[in-house]
Amino acid sequence: SLDLVSPYLFSYKGRCFPVQELMNPKDLDALQHVDVRPSDIYMITYPKSGSAWMQQILVKIVDAAHPDMEEEADNRARVPFLEGNTLDDFRRERPDPRLYATHLPPDMLPTGLKAKGVKVVYVMRNPKDVLVSLYHFSHSWKMLETPKSFEAFFQDFMDGKVYMGLWFDHVRAYQNEKDKMDVHYVKYEDMLKDLRGEVVKVCDFLGKDLTDEAIDHVVEMSTFKNMKTNPKANYKDLVEKQRYSSPTMRKGVAGDWKNFFTVAQNEYFDRVFEEKMSDLPLSFTWEI
Ligand code: A3P
Repeated sequence: SLDLVSPYLFSYKGRCFPVQELMNPKDLDALQHVDVRPSDIYMITYPKSGSAWMQQILVKIVDAAHPDMEEEADNRARVPFLEGNTLDDFRRERPDPRLYATHLPPDMLPTGLKAKGVKVVYVMRNPKDVLVSLYHFSHSWKMLETPKSFEAFFQDFMDGKVYMGLWFDHVRAYQNEKDKMDVHYVKYEDMLKDLRGEVVKVCDFLGKDLTDEAIDHVVEMSTFKNMKTNPKANYKDLVEKQRYSSPTMRKGVAGDWKNFFTVAQNEYFDRVFEEKMSDLPLSFTWEI
């Protein structure tokens, strides 16, 4: 039986997960023992930090570097989420390099990941925009509770009573992995400021030597405008299956939180951020 935090969330190993058939303690445990290959590439995020964006970038980089393997499949199949339906996926034949996505904290990852030196791209976004994005997503994804109000959701986020728990814990946990896994950190706002520059850094990290034209193509295919209308990248099938009621490419900017936070909420957030994060060598761009 699940340890329910609310009708929509259960707690396991100190984090919250949505109550749905594809996510349960048994499968989460089984994920720790899946087959890992040194050539696998993992994309890790706290929810709403730019996962779909980096999924698209990785797919396009891999397609450019391995032109023989370009597939028709959409990004949900190309970069499946571990905590989605991936146990089945590990039984499916896929060409290397295999791409995987996850929101899981480091202690719940497949154990082979560190042992085999798998490359990990961890994407972070300023948490005020994460909060606002997750607030909207909670209206969209039917597995999540529709917030009673922004104020109530704000408090749940600060208390970690949301999908995947506290943002502060997730980001800290992955900062602590710096020397333990082969991880490259990317910031959402840096991608907004200089997408090409960030794509080049990811290519360098992955050891993929792309031509200038190939890099231009990755960038072109990964703009908000192109992704919003690209059915392989925009999770359209989930909207069509009515699991999402609105597109996941919503606004795609830095600073939308200013349209939602009150002055008091912002001061409170800044205090908590300072308290919890000031010892880390991390800085965020809060608006562009
Ligand atoms: P907003 O809700 O603020 O618009 P995730 O994929 O991790 O769920 O993150 C979703 C957020 O990333 C959404 O933020 C979405 O609009 C944004 N996003 C997705 N693709 C993007 C792109 N190409 N450029 C900028 N933002 C993008």
